[in-house]
Formats: sequence, structure tokens, C-alpha cells
Amino acid sequence: MIDDPVLLNDWYIVAAARDLVEGEMLTARLWDKELVLWRHQDAVMAWKDYCIHRGAKLSPGRIKDGTVICPYHGWRYDATGRCSLIPAHPDTQPPPKARAVAYRAVESDGFIWASLGDPQHQPPRFPEFPDDGYRKVLAGPYNYHGNPFRTVENFLDVAHFPFVHANINGDPDDPEPIGDYEVFKDEAGIRTGPIPRFQPFGDHRGIPVTAYYQYNCPRPLSAYFEKDTGEGNRFCTFMAVTPLDIDDCILWVQIAINYGFDLPEPQILKRQDAVYNQDKPIIESQRPHPMPLDLKAELHVRSDKYCVAYRRWLKELGVTWGVSQ
Ligand code: FES
Ligand code: FE
Repeated sequence: MIDDPVLLNDWYIVAAARDLVEGEMLTARLWDKELVLWRHQDAVMAWKDYCIHRGAKLSPGRIKDGTVICPYHGWRYDATGRCSLIPAHPDTQPPPKARAVAYRAVESDGFIWASLGDPQHQPPRFPEFPDDGYRKVLAGPYNYHGNPFRTVENFLDVAHFPFVHANINGDPDDPEPIGDYEVFKDEAGIRTGPIPRFQPFGDHRGIPVTAYYQYNCPRPLSAYFEKDTGEGNRFCTFMAVTPLDIDDCILWVQIAINYGFDLPEPQILKRQDAVYNQDKPIIESQRPHPMPLDLKAELHVRSDKYCVAYRRWLKELGVTWGVSQ
């Protein structure tokens, strides 16, 4: 059981909002907890996938009249988690203990977020999501058998582009040096100033671009970048990692693009899948699995400034799970 209060009292994506339809249940995992998800009217629910009567999973049951019906003996749970009917004793009020274990859940920016704790803030926002000038595309999710923090750090790292994403995000035979860039830290997290990168296959248009990346990391396991390729063209990516174990996680990706509206979605997804599937074996190969926050444990160079800031920030926040001190 996770006992890290910083991570426990935070939000994690458990589903794409479009996949959670009224009248059906979805299953999800967050750390070692198996969840059942459902929605009714304006509410979304994330419950432990468990019926207190005899411990059966609720998810193979069905939904009727805004209640979840357990598949075993048909106990019904309403949206508040209360058992409203025990069919074997329809005239008896179910005991107060007959409740589903309900976690906090909310829909935000195209995702269903859940928390096993009690977050004092809302899920991180993707600034471009509400902007109609941007086309939104969901990619993934991608399952990495790697460390959740190393997965975020990879997202924040531009130095791997020419090698892991050879001839897409950089040229492996002529890798561009990385100049100085700015890193900022405040109560909203850590972010960078623009970082220029030449990319032979800069986006789904398949053309070379010089892209200016600006990164934001508002929460330990959520981040986004805004990539400016000139002429007002912006390609933005929001990512959040759902932790399952120190060597297992799910990477959720949402893109917002304000150009190339004529390009078909499969063309966008093909490039996304290629890139995230290139990162996967690298992250899965990294040892040790807990990411070291002690900066002496690995070797950092000037271009790693943002990743170093990430590790320092995690330490300041007091993160203990999934990392070593
Ligand atoms: Fe759910 Fe019996 S186990 S109703
Ligand atoms: Fe990458």
C-alpha cells in the first residue's frame, strides 16, 4: 500500500472521458488498487472493484436506474456508494455498513481522474484544451514496464531526440548541441523557457522544422509542452503518468494542434505511436527502477538542467515512493 502523502493526495488519469459511457462500467488500476468506473448524470465514480457482501467484483455486474448491481446476489449501490437494495430482503433497509468503497473522481480536460487520497487541488489543466482554435487528439495510452518518474523525465528531456527518435526528432549523425536555456520554479511547478530543436520530421506534416519547446511540469507525474514551429503554428502535448508499481505505469497523452486541420487523425497517431514506442524500451531498460533523487547517484551535464530541476523539485516536495533519496 502506498504511504507517500504527496503522491497519495494527487490525481491520476484512470480513463479517457470518451470511453466512460453512461450505463456501462470500466475497470482501471491505480497502484495496486483495482477500480470500477462508471458515470451517472453529471457525476463520475471510481470505486474499489469489490462488493462487501462476499467480495465479488462489481465490474462484471450491470447498471440500472443509476445503480450498480453486483453480479453475485444483486445488491444495488447508488451513486453515493450506499447499498439501496438487497434483493433477498427487499423490505429491509440495508445496513449502513453496506457501502461501496468510493474514491474521489472527477472529469477534466477529456480524462477521468481519480485519487486514493484527498487532494487539496484540482487535476492539472492542459491550457490549450478549452481553446476551440486547437484540434485535440488522444494518443495512447501506452503501458511502460518502467518507472513512472523516469517516464516523466524522458518526456522533459530533449537530449535523447536525435538518438531515440532518429530522423524524426533529430539527426543521429549530426546531433544538434543544446544551448543554455532557462528553468523556472514557482508554486505552479517547474517550467522552461524556449529550447530550439531542429527536427527532420517535426510533426505529422512530415516536413523539417525548427521547433521551440517550452515545458511545464505542474505535478510530479503530469507535464506538458508547447512546441512552436513558426508562423503561429503550435503543437502542444499533455501527458500524465498513472503509477502502477515502481516499474510499471500507464502513459496518457493528449495533443492540441492549431494547424494542419486537413491532415487525417491516423496520420497524427501514427507518428505519436512511433515516438512513444521508441521511448518505451529505453525507459524499461533503466536501472535502478527507483529514480535516484541524490544527484550524485547518476551523472548530470549542463543540458540536463531541467531534469535536474525535476529531481530536486521532487525531493523538495517530499516524494518518497518510486524514487531513492
Ligand atoms: Fe455482491 Fe453478494 S457478493 S451481492
Ligand atoms: Fe522521447
